[in-house]
Amino acid sequence: MRVLVIGGAGYIGSHVVADLLRAGHQVRIFDNMSTGRPENIFPDAEFVHGDILNVSALTTALTGVDAVIHLAAKKAVGESMADPAKYAINNISGTLNILNAMAEVGVRYFVFSSSAAVYGMPDVSVIDETCPTNPINFYGFTKLEIERFLGWYDRLKGIRFIALRYFNAVGYDVDGRVRGLEQNPQNLLPIIMEVAVGMRPKMCIFGRDYPTPDGTCIRDYIHVSDLADAHTRALAYLENGGESRILNLGTGQGHSVLAMVQETERLLGRPIAHEFTERRPGDPAILTARADEARRVLGWVPTHSDLETIITSTWRVYHR
Ligand code: UFG
Repeated sequence: MRVLVIGGAGYIGSHVVADLLRAGHQVRIFDNMSTGRPENIFPDAEFVHGDILNVSALTTALTGVDAVIHLAAKKAVGESMADPAKYAINNISGTLNILNAMAEVGVRYFVFSSSAAVYGMPDVSVIDETCPTNPINFYGFTKLEIERFLGWYDRLKGIRFIALRYFNAVGYDVDGRVRGLEQNPQNLLPIIMEVAVGMRPKMCIFGRDYPTPDGTCIRDYIHVSDLADAHTRALAYLENGGESRILNLGTGQGHSVLAMVQETERLLGRPIAHEFTERRPGDPAILTARADEARRVLGWVPTHSDLETIITSTWRVYHR
């Protein structure tokens, strides 16, 4: 297929491009390079420097395309609460621009990066797609809002979609094809790595009084190459006539923050300086996915999401 990957120079997007190229698709990347990295742009893909707020650039980029994978979003939860306008404009208006341009040009397939943030603070710790959605931050709200629009664009404009609710995306391409580091990372593993290489003196573990075995939060860490594989499978599913769906992407297995730190120390053979601080507002104690539906619908099975592969693949990119 001819696929437009919007946000294809970003952390997850570049892994998606790598997997699409492996599968033999023709890829055009559309990215405004606000957080995308030049070294993440694959030479075998066409590159268009453009912004989803620019409708005419989008419409031009969609010409000759069969499917769109959209990963161009603002994703810092804390920032979304401080600056909701930025998130409304980029994540909601920008995505509506894409859908409207797709409807105009006649592109029928759409794969959307959604997030476990749509669930908020669920009552259960293992979450399937039928769990109530109740985002507790504006970022999660923008993702849920787009899922709702997608239902309408399917009915009214015939755009079939897969919305993929990622749990905690981690790791780097095991073949070393993606080398661009995220700037100013907010997530746990890149912060651990920055301590490991001396870019920051120490890290904080937010809270040690959660109702978990070691008192720190538990998350479902999914390797970004496994996420990428799910996108390639989603395209095949849509091309084969599959109906629109929303799917969780996680392993179903949780790891605590302390376990992530200790496992990194063990694998790297060096200490990660850390201290325990107050809980971070809005952090649920345990978030893990039930991802049986993605297995059933897409035949998707994570193969890189063991902690050793996650940590060592990330380390190879940080340690150079
Ligand atoms: N954490 C620390 N110290 C840090 C950073 C994180 O202790 O310096 C802890 C957090 O408190 C949390 C865990 O590590 O318990 C994971 O935190 P992340 O910020 O890496 O990830 P989150 O689980 O908060 O959120 C991530 C994405 C969101 C997405 C969510 C879905 O960042 O965009 O997963 O599960 F919505």
